[in-house]
Order: sequence, then structure tokens, then C-alpha cells
Amino acid sequence: MTAVVEVRDAHVVHRARSGGLFRRDRVYALTGAGLSVAPGETVGVVGESGCGKSTLAKVLVGIERPVSGAVAFRGRDLWAMPAAERRSTVGAGTGMIFQDPSTALNRRLAVRRILRDPLDVHRRGTRAEREERVRELMALVGLPRALADALPGQLSGGQRQRVAIARALALDPDLVVADEPTSALDVSVRAQILNLLLDLKERLGLALVFVSHDIQTVRRMSDRVITMYLGRIVEETPAGRVTDAARHPYTRALFSATPGLLDPVDPIPLTGPLPSATRPPSGCPFRTRCWRADEVCAASMPDFSAASRPGHRYRCHHPVQEDQPTRDPARQEP
Ligand SMILES: Nc1ncnc2c1ncn2[C@@H]1O[C@H](COP(=O)(O)OP(=O)(O)OP(=O)(O)O)[C@@H](O)[C@H]1O
Ligand code: SF4
Ligand SMILES: [Mg+2]
Repeated sequence: MTAVVEVRDAHVVHRARSGGLFRRDRVYALTGAGLSVAPGETVGVVGESGCGKSTLAKVLVGIERPVSGAVAFRGRDLWAMPAAERRSTVGAGTGMIFQDPSTALNRRLAVRRILRDPLDVHRRGTRAEREERVRELMALVGLPRALADALPGQLSGGQRQRVAIARALALDPDLVVADEPTSALDVSVRAQILNLLLDLKERLGLALVFVSHDIQTVRRMSDRVITMYLGRIVEETPAGRVTDAARHPYTRALFSATPGLLDPVDPIPLTGPLPSATRPPSGCPFRTRCWRADEVCAASMPDFSAASRPGHRYRCHHPVQEDQPTRDPARQEP
């Protein structure tokens, strides 16, 4: 089956001012990332702040152009297309939901206009059909019709995020990328928005890429979990068994930090500072904090190895044993 989107060996490097007025350092936001998303699949992306999750999300929906590597939509190279074709392919084929709905929506436009805008830009149907589609979208995300003329400022945070979701779905995309869609919301409405996303994904057959700091939510929502560290994808694990089947020490550390009630784990402390994306360490970037690191890890970045289950791969010289419950490393390897 053709992937909805496939990213191959993508690198994103930013120039950031640091220190002196004329000094601009390179920030390695994404390094050699490869990822393929199948129709209808949910892929969760986890990793600490600054590891490149949003950069990967933007590459997936064609907002960020990698300095090298390729992005293919349904098998067609996005950045080889003429700009107009790329805009219409991306605009109609993908929807992006951002963290903070209050900044993502135009504050001066009523809900009706916000939702009609993508239909107008892509010239979908007659005027009457567009108005009908707006009503349909509002119903789809559970927004009362009475809110059609409201401005974003008159809505609650949850309602605003529903508008953002409806807008992302306006052109009936194959792929929706949600970058921390609930972290700006009250805890009480987070579950509602997550359930709405899951429900829509099922009903519309969407492929969903879901970025979140909330490890347990990612595990529950996803088919596959992508672990990122300092701009690199270091593991790809089937979500159901990530807590004790993950092989990469960093994935284990992340998933041990918030033990579930049913499968308690000993938290693995992540000690040592997160290295800078401006000067990543040699070899494996996790080695400055990894309890299994040795000189091999300093010398080279391991390639991907395939684990025993399909769809599971990791980059580590000394992987944790599969099916071994996560334990405090101090006790595990005295
Ligand atoms: N426009 C930019 N200019 C310079 N550096 C940038 C830019 N955008 C991102 N970066 C840097 O690139 C790296 C990756 O950023 P990114 O936003 O993708 O991380 P993230 O995983 O989404 O973090 P968070 O969890 O905080 O949202 C970071 O070091 C960040 O500071
Ligand atoms: S390669 Fe080495 S430093 Fe990197 S995660 Fe594996 S054991 Fe740790
Ligand atoms: Mg981010």
C-alpha cells in the first residue's frame, strides 16, 4: 500500500543567533529522519523539549523544507513539484493542528469564515455547498450551530481547539498531524479533545501523527511510537508493548517515568543535561546520559537494527533486552 506520506533521510538545520552579534550557529533540528505513515495509521511522536518533534511534524505536512532528503505524498516527491501544485497537494491532503488554538486561529474572523476559508482558497463547490460544508464540519466536531458567528475570543479553549480540528478537516485530508493538541487546554477538556480526535480518525479513516509530551496518552492513542532524541529518530516501537518491549534505553527511560497502575515500573532517572542541538556529541547522542554507554557509543552512531517484531527498529549498540521489565539500572546491573 502506498504510504500517505514518506520522509527519507531528512535533515533540517537552522541558523540561530548565539553569543556575538554576527555569530550564527547551526542548530541540527532534524538529522537523517526517515518515517513512513500508512493510510489510517496513528503514529505517536515522543521526546524531550527541543528534540525535533515539531520540526518533523512540519516536514511531514510540507511546511518545512528539509535541506536534504525527500518527502513523498502518496509516492510523489513534494519538493520536486511546482510550487502551486505543492500548495494544492499539501493544502488538500493534510491538516495540521497546533498546540495553542488561540494563536492558530485568526482572532478577527468568525468561526464560519475560519472554516470556509480553506474551501474558498481551494475553490471547493458552489457558495451554497461551502456553507453546507461549514455546517457539516461544525456538527462533526460537536460545535453548536449557534457558534457559527462567534469570534475565537468568545469561545472556550476546548471549543477553539474544536474549530482548529474542523478547519484541519475541511478539505477531507488523508493525513492529520496534531502537534501537542491538548497541552494548552485545561486538564478537564483534554480527554474530550483526544476522544474527538480518535473518533474522527476512525470515522474518516485518517492517518494521524500525534506529537505529545504525555507519554501514556501517546501509548494509548497510537499504533506505533516514534522516539526522538536530539534531532534523530532513535526507535520505532509498536505502541501496545512499548513499556517492556522497547530496546532503546532512552525509550525505556521515558516510559518508565510515568508508571501505569497495572504495570508498575521502577523509574529510570535521566541524569545529566540534555546536550545542545548546536553541538551534538559524537557517536550516539544519548551517550552523555545513558547508563549503558561505553567507548563504542562515543565512536559511532549505531544504524537501525530490526527487533524480533515487525515494525520495531532501534538505534543502539547495547539495547535493553526485550520483555525484560524496566528496572532501575542501578539494581539491574550492579
Ligand atoms: N526557526 C528556528 N530557528 C532556530 N532554531 C530553531 C527554529 N525552530 C526550531 N529550532 C530549534 O530546533 C530544535 C528542534 O526544535 P523543535 O521545535 O522541533 O523541538 P520540539 O521537540 O518540538 O520541542 P518542544 O517539545 O519544546 O515543542 C530546537 O533546538 C529548537 O531550538
Ligand atoms: S548506543 Fe550506547 S549510548 Fe546510545 S543508547 Fe545505546 S547504549 Fe546508550
Ligand atoms: Mg514542539
